[in-house]
Amino acid sequence: MRTAKTVDRLRQAVRAARQEGKTIGLVPTMGFLHAGHMSLVDRARRETDLVVVSIFVNPAQFGPSEDFEAYPRDEERDLAMLEEAGVDLVFMPSAEEMYPEGFATYVLQEGSLTETLCGRSRPGHFRGVTTIVAKLFNLVGPDRAYFGQKDAQQVAVIRRMVKDLNFDVRIVACPIVREDDGLALSSRNTYLDSRQRQDATVLSRALFEARAAIEAGQRRAAAIRELVRNRIAAVADARIDYVEVVDADDLTPLEKLQGRIMIAVAVRIGKPRLIDNIQMTVDR
Ligand code: PAJ
Repeated sequence: MRTAKTVDRLRQAVRAARQEGKTIGLVPTMGFLHAGHMSLVDRARRETDLVVVSIFVNPAQFGPSEDFEAYPRDEERDLAMLEEAGVDLVFMPSAEEMYPEGFATYVLQEGSLTETLCGRSRPGHFRGVTTIVAKLFNLVGPDRAYFGQKDAQQVAVIRRMVKDLNFDVRIVACPIVREDDGLALSSRNTYLDSRQRQDATVLSRALFEARAAIEAGQRRAAAIRELVRNRIAAVADARIDYVEVVDADDLTPLEKLQGRIMIAVAVRIGKPRLIDNIQMTVDR
């Protein structure tokens, strides 16, 4: 496994692989890797010849009062996990390498995809995401890039960006990896103390209960939102940011449940803000 800390080194390594006719898979991450990240790596390993993983805690996607400084980091452990998984190349640039003095060009997606859900509660967040992901796509030129459905809005925003800016890359969305008790794996789970860790299971429990209600015939989005809100509100430490029932593709709010739908939640439990979602196809 090779590591590149600079743009030049990354370009060199990628160019060599291209010349050998290898297909390239890219897995962008902010590190502190867990089984969710590794599921993307494994999929990339199966589908492409050269797997590039980036580890970069991207300052541009954190708000001024968010956890950029505190975001967990463990470079040594991350590299060991990636080596074990058979990754070819790890890109781990400094902030100065990605945003050098004088950096001024951002990729800003307008419209409903970035204005709803997390875009509403984290202004500027998706501008940081689209900017860094566009840079990574330009640097690596991947055939395929792998993202988790855990961040379903991120997937939708990036698919839109790929269409709008004509990036020649296939976006592969991978299922959410969960703990045995349902909690979606997240680097931020490390902020939870043991009591909060217990409380955090309310997100997936509420979502699974909502799914059961839909399977039993419920078709009113308002009733589903209410159910999920009530379950989460029953946990004293949980502060709801949003509970939304939306179209899974364009993220517009629904009244009647039909077609590919998503129930998405963001909840603060203690310090961290946790997100989760489920997607399902609903017939009439
Ligand atoms: P990060 O939070 O490190 O996540 C990297 C990738 O892993 C994302 O595509 C995310 O959706 C996926 N992932 C995280 N937890 C997952 C889980 N439990 N199951 C499946 N996939 C999971 O998302 C980012 O970093 C950044 O915004 C990034 C795209 C790297 C741009 O900076």
